[in-house]
Amino acid sequence: MLIDGHNRVVDYLRVSVTERCNFRCQYCMPEKPFSWVPKENLLTYEELFEFVKVCIDEGVKKVRITGGEPLLREGLEHFIAMIAQYKEDIDLALTTNAYLLPQAAQKLKEAGLKRINVSLDSLKPKIAEKIAQKDVLQTVLEGIDKADEVGLKIKVNCVPMQGVNDDELLDILDFCKQRGYTVRFIEFMENQQALMTTKGYTSEEIQKIIAQKYHFVKCERKGSSPSQDYMLDDGYVFGIIEPHKDDFCATCNRVRLTASGVLIPCLYFEDAQSIKEAIQNKDIQKATQILKNVLANKPEKNKWSQETSSRAFYETGG
Ligand code: 5AD
Ligand code: SF4
Repeated sequence: MLIDGHNRVVDYLRVSVTERCNFRCQYCMPEKPFSWVPKENLLTYEELFEFVKVCIDEGVKKVRITGGEPLLREGLEHFIAMIAQYKEDIDLALTTNAYLLPQAAQKLKEAGLKRINVSLDSLKPKIAEKIAQKDVLQTVLEGIDKADEVGLKIKVNCVPMQGVNDDELLDILDFCKQRGYTVRFIEFMENQQALMTTKGYTSEEIQKIIAQKYHFVKCERKGSSPSQDYMLDDGYVFGIIEPHKDDFCATCNRVRLTASGVLIPCLYFEDAQSIKEAIQNKDIQKATQILKNVLANKPEKNKWSQETSSRAFYETGG
């Protein structure tokens, strides 16, 4: 079992397979970065898998594949199949913007993927276009349909933004409710890459908007989920991810690996260590040691500051 320096069990690994993205979401990557990590600096799927195995052998129960946009990296289904075949009961998930799902969903399902989280910030084509800086809505909706059709379980991420999509939160909730998807509203996390004018909402403000139509109660927090769940009178459950709350980090169970092999203990903490050399030298003992060192130094709370948090979400996979 992996335990961090603050006695938290770490059983959740997020693996970014690329920092590249085909969207330019205003809260994440409004502009194309000055340069991408060159392809030759990325770990191969086989190398990433070696490290995933280290983590699973040490007790990791949940693996999420992230990006950038992970479906931009060719052959992702092979990576998924490697993990799914290594441990059948692993909770294996993918975070995607859904744009490439129309053609990828079937392959992903066959490879052993069970669930996806998709970003859906607006149901209005023009607003979706404004947020992602690309005309994406129709393809995203087709992608979601396709994923649903092949039997992938779907969760929706929505970042409420002042003056952008705040009049749609109830529509997005209803869309998800009707289709049986869980929706999670995420407080915008300020960061240096985001469009300067982006302003999010606090959980309380989001709840106020939902309360215009629905009565709901707060659910008891379960496990290490970052989401605070709320239940409508008819039993439908939605979540709000509240990273601005003081106790957000108390149950953190995660560690992140970037596509170039950097192991990051916390989104907002500049310390990190590379496992690349150890993995490429097939030195599993060393890779395990680095993992344990990184976890021993995992901060108790995120050291988040708008001024100094320069690490990009698209690099760390959110
Ligand atoms: N604030 C909140 N959520 C973010 N995401 C990306 N950037 C931010 C941010 N600055 C989330 C989006 C997206 C997922 C990949 O990461 O919800 O769906
Ligand atoms: Fe791409 Fe996702 Fe970031 Fe949007 S939020 S730019 S889809 S990585």
